[in-house]
Amino acid sequence: MTLDKTKVVYQIYPKSYKDTTGNGVGDLQGIIEKLPYLQDLGVDVIWLNPFYPSPQRDNGYDVSDYTAVNPLFGTMADFEALVHAGKAYGIELMLDMVLNHCSTEHEWFQKALAGDKFYQDFFILRDQPTDWVSKFGGSAWAPFGDTGKYYLHLFDKTQADLNWRNPHVREELFKVVNFWRDKGVKGFRFDVINLIGKDEELKDNPNFDGKPEYTDKPINHDYLKMLNKETFGRDQDSMTVGEMSFTDIPNCVQYSNPNSHELDMVFNFHHLKVDYDNGQKWTRKTFDFEELKTLFHTWGEGMSQGDGWSALFWNNHDQPRALNRFVDIKNFRNEGATMLAASIHLSRGTPYIYMGEEIGMIDPDYTSMSDYVDVESLNAYQEMLDKGKSPEEAFKIIQAKSRDNSRTPMQWDNTANAGFSTAKPWLKVGRSYQQINVASEKQGKIFPFYQKLIQLRKEMPLIAEGTYKAALSDSTKVYAFERKWQDQKLLVLNNFFAETVELDLPAAYQRGTVLISNYEEDALIDKILLKPYQTIAILAKV
Ligand code: GLC
Repeated sequence: MTLDKTKVVYQIYPKSYKDTTGNGVGDLQGIIEKLPYLQDLGVDVIWLNPFYPSPQRDNGYDVSDYTAVNPLFGTMADFEALVHAGKAYGIELMLDMVLNHCSTEHEWFQKALAGDKFYQDFFILRDQPTDWVSKFGGSAWAPFGDTGKYYLHLFDKTQADLNWRNPHVREELFKVVNFWRDKGVKGFRFDVINLIGKDEELKDNPNFDGKPEYTDKPINHDYLKMLNKETFGRDQDSMTVGEMSFTDIPNCVQYSNPNSHELDMVFNFHHLKVDYDNGQKWTRKTFDFEELKTLFHTWGEGMSQGDGWSALFWNNHDQPRALNRFVDIKNFRNEGATMLAASIHLSRGTPYIYMGEEIGMIDPDYTSMSDYVDVESLNAYQEMLDKGKSPEEAFKIIQAKSRDNSRTPMQWDNTANAGFSTAKPWLKVGRSYQQINVASEKQGKIFPFYQKLIQLRKEMPLIAEGTYKAALSDSTKVYAFERKWQDQKLLVLNNFFAETVELDLPAAYQRGTVLISNYEEDALIDKILLKPYQTIAILAKV
């Protein structure tokens, strides 16, 4: 089981990709319809956010049946057709496994509530709650019926944490993964998987430093080894990624080093907190370049030296669009989008593209709170008002930070509803769809640049396999790194600012060749002028 490092993953939020039934919600047939588009882009794997039966309180991350398809998205036959059609296009599926918690509507929780002791031990029940807070606000504990006990929910109160210490729970969850393997699925993305290992005795968080007590516990690694052995580890060509909340390099090396037999790779989120004021999400701040650069350098080198492997990404369904956060999109959307792309596609790890990123989609620019539907945004808005923020201030923060920013319908063309659906979409289409859509962007600057980056990874082991080393660490504007493989090396320079930056080109690269750039190339001499948001990768001999 060795990970194929030439592969690139594309994430689809099924609710918002393509609606073929006219109910305003995307569906599995819609994804089948777009396979030729994805093949043209060049991606190898598509990660689908949850499409299982669910009350949709957290858009499918509240699963009420792990081994069925929510009729909203189609049928099991549609799913099988998607697996089959995908293989014909050379595209594998990666499914989202939400194994830390299930919906309180799941039959396990319902049986537990009805008094069944066997199922009560599926959950984390205590007489005395700890001081833990839910990631969606408020206490992480809720009364368990009228038993006088409390059940743990690290997320919404309709998402009850599962008790992985119970071997029956593990057995049931392994069956879930094997159910989908039997359908031909090779890839799995494990939701908040570094939170599954809770200690027997739960402790308060007295010295809370941002990393909650229950994160990255040693037993978490044991559970991942078991999961690996009992499920995907039996396949030659599986691909697995774990979403890691508040994690660190030593744990991530351990989760993803091939000798640990845990996962192929990990997502961490530190680089997407550099525009949080004081570590708090519901704030507004210009991103801190110094912090971003240092994080990329320490993670890049730490993972490279420890033989760990990262999932590289700027966008997903939980994040506002990176273009709005890191780029002057009024003046430099094309340059910024291509620079951000190169900064991860040429780096060490597996790149993930979130739907719409390849055409430079931006936040929707909603004008009213009633446009938002996400439970986290609605809770946060209320909490901000309760704490004394004015509705205008609170709204500005929601506009900048809401997860709905990335969940808006995919913009296919400039017709009604952006070509996503014939009906009113479940979430309002972004205002930019007249200009920013697949039909026009395919001849634009961004889509072809992504195609080229994906192609380069397939052709060059230097990009897929090379080591990572920080470069130009003192630069206050340019994030640079060096890759090495056998007798080749590559220097990647990324200007994160809307201004020209002059820098000294290291001697070894003055006689190099330009592999890719988002501007017309100049001759390489000792000084190099990087234009606004320029990215340039220079190839040289070791
Ligand atoms: C992950 C998912 C997010 C979800 C949460 C709870 O962070 O990406 O969308 O709300 O887990 O399952």
